[in-house]
Amino acid sequence: MTQTPAIEVDGLTKKFGHFTAVDDVSFDIHPGEIFGFLGPNGAGKSTTIRAILDLIRPTSGHCRVQGLDSRRDAVEIHRRIGFLPSDLALWPGLTGRQTVEYLGRLRGGVDRARVDELSERLDADLSRKVGEYSSGNRQKLGIVLAFMHSPEVVILDEPITGLDPLVQLEFHTLLREMADAGGTVFLSSHTISEVERVADRVAFIRRGHLIAVERMAELQDKALRRITLEFGDAVPARAFEGIEGVRDVTVDGPTVSAQYEGSMAPLLAVATEHDVLSVSSASVDLDQIFLEFYRDEVEAAGDDPDQPDDRREPDDGRAA
Ligand SMILES: Nc1ncnc2c1ncn2[C@@H]1O[C@H](COP(=O)(O)OP(=O)(O)O)[C@@H](O)[C@H]1O
Ligand SMILES: [Mg+2]
Repeated sequence: MTQTPAIEVDGLTKKFGHFTAVDDVSFDIHPGEIFGFLGPNGAGKSTTIRAILDLIRPTSGHCRVQGLDSRRDAVEIHRRIGFLPSDLALWPGLTGRQTVEYLGRLRGGVDRARVDELSERLDADLSRKVGEYSSGNRQKLGIVLAFMHSPEVVILDEPITGLDPLVQLEFHTLLREMADAGGTVFLSSHTISEVERVADRVAFIRRGHLIAVERMAELQDKALRRITLEFGDAVPARAFEGIEGVRDVTVDGPTVSAQYEGSMAPLLAVATEHDVLSVSSASVDLDQIFLEFYRDEVEAAGDDPDQPDDRREPDDGRAA
């Protein structure tokens, strides 16, 4: 890739005392990409993001945004990008509109048409005081603030928390439009279902270690899907045994269900040799993959996967 990465994290380590929150993490994000950063609470997502934004000082390693060094060029980085922190603190006495005007003026002006477009699309109510907002509305205001100056790079720390499903869809559309126009989106989440429909690539982090960076399309190919077939007559189970990628076949009279991996075609080829009436396939079970990543890592580390991480960021994200 000859293009300068939009975001580079290079050997990033952050220690708090003797505790290593982020351990030698490296990845690049390219212009036009939507990059999901996934990990359970306490994994090191916010710490990584804070290092990229020079809100904390790395113990070692470097971060760059559009080729600018996070430490040396922090002011310019903050001018260029949009950022939604996980602990967005705002002024409870200001309305959403006043907040937008104030922070917009600090940036050198407010694009009112853009603000109106964003708040309409996200169904954000800017008229009331921020102190009276629901968590969802505060999150929507945070998204408006991150996008209102049409930045080329947005960094969003758990942006989907508190958004209802319709708003999530519109938010995803917004991210896709930005990426299609060559912009870069970095978003963190602790659940894969929040990013699976929108991310081009995902990185998995746990206990400060980067476990894997994968293309979403490849993950989806690896995912197991469940298929249910209805036949006109009872079919023998053995007809479905030994088909490539197919496992766990259960037959209940004329109903056959199975799990399959990769292409559905070999299974359908066999089904059509019989009197098949209907086929339904459940959505991709990426949660399973997500858990498997962690299980592998946990086994390697000799850890207990059910033990919650004991160190957590306090949940002080509310504007009082
Ligand atoms: N300022 C800090 N001082 C001490 N420990 C911290 C600090 N910030 C984060 N941590 C710890 O570092 C780990 C990673 O935190 P964080 O990056 O906030 O996780 P995530 O955003 O993935 O939930 C957690 O165990 C957290 O308690
Ligand atoms: Mg966090």
